[in-house]
Amino acid sequence: MLSENAKKEIEREMAKYPEKRAVILAALHLVQKEEGWISQDAMEEVASLLDLTPIEVREVTSFYTMFNMRPVGNHHLQVCTNLSCALMNGRGVVEYIQRKLGIEVGETTGDERFTLSTVECLGSCGTAPMMQIGDDYHENLSEPKIDSILETLK
Ligand code: FES
Repeated sequence: MLSENAKKEIEREMAKYPEKRAVILAALHLVQKEEGWISQDAMEEVASLLDLTPIEVREVTSFYTMFNMRPVGNHHLQVCTNLSCALMNGRGVVEYIQRKLGIEVGETTGDERFTLSTVECLGSCGTAPMMQIGDDYHENLSEPKIDSILETLK
């Protein structure tokens, strides 16, 4: 259930555009910021607020890898496996994290600390391989660097 604060923020955003549907990305960002992911109930609420159908909201939510359609751990490791990162051992980064955390892509550790995902290009190709954790980019990854990053995340 969306908070009153989120609903008010969505209404403020709607005032900026000629059509309510223009606010869908902003609304989904707000939901994810509050909940950490976007549930079916939240998609239905957003649809209702924006005069859309739930399937229209689901289509947008599922199109963007930045939106989580199921709960994630405290730290969401999003490893780029697109071309530049793939050429710089992005798959190796994924495999190393899988081994280190004992999870597969799409899974969360038992302590709910980490979720591992693969994503498409994050626009940081010149510093491949890279991953995003929260709002932060971690670039030029190596196994020791990954160890150090994960160590700092509580
Ligand atoms: S290919 Fe990985 S950031 Fe662009």
